Amino acid sequence: MRMIDLRSDTVTRPTPEMRRAMAEAEVGDDVFRDDPTVIALEERAAELLGKEAGLFVPSGSMGNLVSLMAHLGRGQEVIAGRQSHPVLHEAGSHAVVAGASVRTLDELPDGTLDPDEVREAFRDPTDEHEPITGLVAIENANAATMNRPLTPAYTAEIAAVAHAGHGTAPGVPLHVDGARLWNAVVGLGVSARELAGPADSVTFCLSKGLACPVGSVVVGSREFIWRARRARKLVGGGMRQVGILAAAGLVALRDGPAGMIERLAEDHANARRLAEAIADMDGVESPGDIAQPEPGPLDPSRVVTNFVLFRVRRDREAFIEALWRRGVLVVAFPHGQVRAVTHYGIERDDIEAAIAAVSEALAETSLAPVVA
Ligand SMILES: Cc1ncc(COP(=O)(O)O)c(C=O)c1O
Repeated sequence: MRMIDLRSDTVTRPTPEMRRAMAEAEVGDDVFRDDPTVIALEERAAELLGKEAGLFVPSGSMGNLVSLMAHLGRGQEVIAGRQSHPVLHEAGSHAVVAGASVRTLDELPDGTLDPDEVREAFRDPTDEHEPITGLVAIENANAATMNRPLTPAYTAEIAAVAHAGHGTAPGVPLHVDGARLWNAVVGLGVSARELAGPADSVTFCLSKGLACPVGSVVVGSREFIWRARRARKLVGGGMRQVGILAAAGLVALRDGPAGMIERLAEDHANARRLAEAIADMDGVESPGDIAQPEPGPLDPSRVVTNFVLFRVRRDREAFIEALWRRGVLVVAFPHGQVRAVTHYGIERDDIEAAIAAVSEALAETSLAPVVA
């Protein structure tokens, strides 16, 4: 049976082109800055996002961590969304390693943080009891809201709030966790430069929709990247002949159909098709929480990129298990949701097969206890 793995876009395998580029990559010791392929990738990423410099890191989590370490001193605080990745899914590294606290704000249903709330969240630097606000961080695209893209206008607005500070609190930088920045770029039809322009640092993952086996890139000013490089060293992330991995990234970031950015539009169309087909099925409903707060049917127009979140009026685990038995892999997501993610390797036929499997799994589990 062909497995249709919709658990995440991290399950993607490298393309044949990537494997060839990896096999042939010119490499050197990157800790000595001797690896031409890594240097080329870092320069390419910086150029695409309109920043001075880039840094290749093994993962998005490390990209966020070294960015926090480069921006913040111990005892400083980052203002971030309550459901953002560093807050929920990075093992508390902001606290354990960077020594920073987080002031969490509720994300809005469009994935944004309210600019007024961000302004109000700055601490009073004249009060010795309070942490010192040192950074604002946003997530683009925003996973908790079906990977919804945040616009350049919003990014500029929140950057202005961060840079202005509040009261006696001075301005701070803006970091963008752009693990899926390219989905936002393609979903909005804007350039990466427009999205990254207002931010002081941006991380993006190569190993999600772009289908590389490993890696993320951090970009920012030359001076910021120097501090991020030092932070990467501190957490043991300096790598040697890592051009073998960077070579796949260079393939992914090529312009046009030779690269992996443009084709994300197919994933978005596939996700929308899946959402439209299952939205009408009895037993499928709104994902709730901030993805779609209003109860009722799933609204496919919320699917702008490659995530489909929904809930089922079924025993969720039984439903997921029934799908797995039909070769369709999805995951349980917070707030009682089910998540299906489209990506490279998932074709339109797979989506049609997944739609049929959802219908069958709903029928099979219809007698199971109803979830509250
Ligand atoms: C929004 C977001 N940020 C950061 C990361 C971390 O990436 P990695 O898994 O490469 O550490 C993820 C991973 O799924 C993510 O979804």
